[in-house]
Amino acid sequence: MSLSVVILAAGKGTRMKSSLPKVLHAIADKPMVEHVIDAARCVNADNIYMVYGFGGEILQARITGEDLTFVEQAEQLGTGHAVNMATPYLKDDENVLVLYGDVPLTKVSTLQQLIDAKPDNGMSLLTVNLTNPTGYGRIVRESGNVVGIVEQKDATAEELAINECNTGILLANGGDLKRWLANLSNDNAQGEYYLTDIIAACHNEGKLIATAHPETEVEVEGANNRVQLAALERAFQLREAEALMLNGASLRDPNRIDIRGKLLIGQEVKIDVNCIFEGEVVLADGVKIGANCILKDCTIGEFAEVKPNTIVEGAVIGDLCSVGPFARIRPGSVMNKDSHVGNFVEMKKTILGEGSKSGHLTYLGDANIGQNVNVGAGTITCNYDGVNKSQTIIGDNAFIGSNTSLVAPVFISEKATVGAGSVIAKDVEKEQLAVARGKQRNIDGWQRPTKKQ
Ligand code: UD1
Ligand code: CA
Repeated sequence: MSLSVVILAAGKGTRMKSSLPKVLHAIADKPMVEHVIDAARCVNADNIYMVYGFGGEILQARITGEDLTFVEQAEQLGTGHAVNMATPYLKDDENVLVLYGDVPLTKVSTLQQLIDAKPDNGMSLLTVNLTNPTGYGRIVRESGNVVGIVEQKDATAEELAINECNTGILLANGGDLKRWLANLSNDNAQGEYYLTDIIAACHNEGKLIATAHPETEVEVEGANNRVQLAALERAFQLREAEALMLNGASLRDPNRIDIRGKLLIGQEVKIDVNCIFEGEVVLADGVKIGANCILKDCTIGEFAEVKPNTIVEGAVIGDLCSVGPFARIRPGSVMNKDSHVGNFVEMKKTILGEGSKSGHLTYLGDANIGQNVNVGAGTITCNYDGVNKSQTIIGDNAFIGSNTSLVAPVFISEKATVGAGSVIAKDVEKEQLAVARGKQRNIDGWQRPTKKQ
């Protein structure tokens, strides 16, 4: 049987105090509604219908997919009215799952349970027991069976005492849903067409209402303002951290890690506090990440160490390498096996060969550096003439003395040596020593200036 998912996202989200539609506010750098869409895809949705009210253009520009259809709800007349906007698209003989664009953390396993719970002649409903049910629709049961939902504003004192609450998430047959929605009335305390009224309609036809429940409340919580959004972000991050630890990673503090993308790990990976992972990051076996690192779209090889306060983006760090503390490895850089980069070294589009070292205070841009090269402290590749970028090539076993400027394009051959403090603008041949600096003069009996009266 096919599955269609209707995602309600028509609310304006006034309390976000934002020009962005509410559902585009992000958890882990991804719009809330995209988390919902991902979950829908994970339970094999054939079609997804997004019911929107505001910011349709921004939404359709940001959220795309062949399985996605945008359905406008011009006026927000209630959740039942919202789902009804999508009914022209729904087939009679399919399952329809209703989700919410601002409820981003529902687990796929929970949705699967809801789908599995649905009786052939009836629907299934995701409910949750809350110690404080204020504001939620209450689940009304008779001799154990669900017979209806009553909204907070329409409830009697007796009904208000019910702790089992409606999450809003439900699954029904398409044909049933269309019939029930067509017969909704807005004769209630809020003057809205309540989706929740379909439960009584289902019961009145003698059909069954099964229930499923999330593992934790956070799975069914929505974000109406930025305080709630931040709370969901922390919940999401803790979930990611726990998944990493259960996968074998050691985290110094699971409350101090942020994963805004995909983090793949090998065995015995150790991560210290306050690290941020963005895009797609791979940490191979035995990798150690120090405190306060930002890693984006990069691969860190086996037993490599990224020391504290290092930023790596769009780069490959080879096996057994060490980087940092306070290093910045920018896109297009590759550190080959067992190479080392130390504090205050910046690399851009640079290849550092196996066993090579650049320990301190250096800029390496557009450079191709061979094996076992020592790049002295304070080396600068002058790769930019104000208009063009040029390459610096350094051969195997070369030695670059401290405080050297390498004016690109320039070629330092293998086993060449460059004296400290040199400005090298001409190629250096194999095994040559190049020294390019002012000659030292020592002046005897030098009198230092005296203070003027
Ligand atoms: C709804 C449920 C309530 C449940 C609660 C869970 C109904 C009548 N009530 O109440 O039983 O406990 O959610 O949070 O369904 N929306 C639209 N178009 C509309 C109205 C709403 O797209 O015309 C969307 C909103 O953007 C929001 C969601 O539907 O994402 C829920 O709407 P809201 O008005 O917040 O419903 P509640 O009153 O919280
Ligand atoms: Ca609500």
